[in-house]
Amino acid sequence: MRTDIAFSYAPGKVILIGEHAVVYGATAIAMPIDMGVRVAVSRLDEHSDLAGVGPMIRGVGPFFMGDTFLHQESSGPKVLTHALGYLAQAFGEQALDMAIVVDGSLAPGRGLGSSAALSVAIIRAIYRYIQQPLSDCLLASHASALETIFHGQPSGIDHAVVINGEPIAFRRKAQTAEYRTLKLSSELKLVVGFVGPHDGTKNAVKEFAERKKRQEKAYSRIISNLDDMAADMEEALLNGRLAFVGELMNIAQGYLNALSLSTLAIEHLCALARERGALGAKLTGAGGGGAVIALCDGCETEILSAFRAAGFESFITSVSAGRHHA
Ligand code: MEV
Repeated sequence: MRTDIAFSYAPGKVILIGEHAVVYGATAIAMPIDMGVRVAVSRLDEHSDLAGVGPMIRGVGPFFMGDTFLHQESSGPKVLTHALGYLAQAFGEQALDMAIVVDGSLAPGRGLGSSAALSVAIIRAIYRYIQQPLSDCLLASHASALETIFHGQPSGIDHAVVINGEPIAFRRKAQTAEYRTLKLSSELKLVVGFVGPHDGTKNAVKEFAERKKRQEKAYSRIISNLDDMAADMEEALLNGRLAFVGELMNIAQGYLNALSLSTLAIEHLCALARERGALGAKLTGAGGGGAVIALCDGCETEILSAFRAAGFESFITSVSAGRHHA
């Protein structure tokens, strides 16, 4: 049983504390943002010469990646061919004439979880298309397989927060992970500034591992401090102590800089945000480019204007207490 066409949406994310450290078992805190990925799944035209060569992905809008086919030479990136290979293996014959169209407001390469959003949105749309029930657990296992293709060895935080649709405190444990939904007691407003594409999460995680090997003791101490700070941040978020959360973000940024994850542009935006009253500012995600987040308590429009005046594409995102992003 298949329907004609099925749609889905998944949000992107920001990490408030604990990126990279989370790969080594530290707790990290993440929240969904007001930008995301839309996916439509329908049937490749059975009368055209494309029938049966799928599945195929077409990127439109910010996902301008052309057409990628599993069983035909195509223009799209290799990693998408691998993702299609996974879908063909997971969904068998049903996948052979699936046409997956990707659009949305969240462009890739910004450190804002576009690949997790893409993975989750694709799987949700496919299950709607084949009219099968999908539990969060099954969704997480497919999303994890796709994220492994996109990212190498992801901690799982990106797709966990994207699926959960609310802020989470996440910890990886051997082959599994656990997370708690954080019921915020006050609204969080963040200005997100995009500082330019990064070199990919896969490379960032790999290079981090190499540096950590050379400086095992120093890196482990910082990771352990970030882990403690994540626990403090969780408590402060639950109690609405946003100034304290902001201070922890500033300290985390100092550590991320020490771990060689920051850049001149990131430091510039953090300084701009703090000068204009942000409670805290830091890079978010893999680093080396990507995005900066500034936590605001009334100064968000001023910071947004300052980021834009400095030439950085920016937007405001918020999570209110108990909000759902489904
Ligand atoms: C990427 O959004 C976050 C990293 O910690 C990688 C991961 O956790 O998989 C850099």
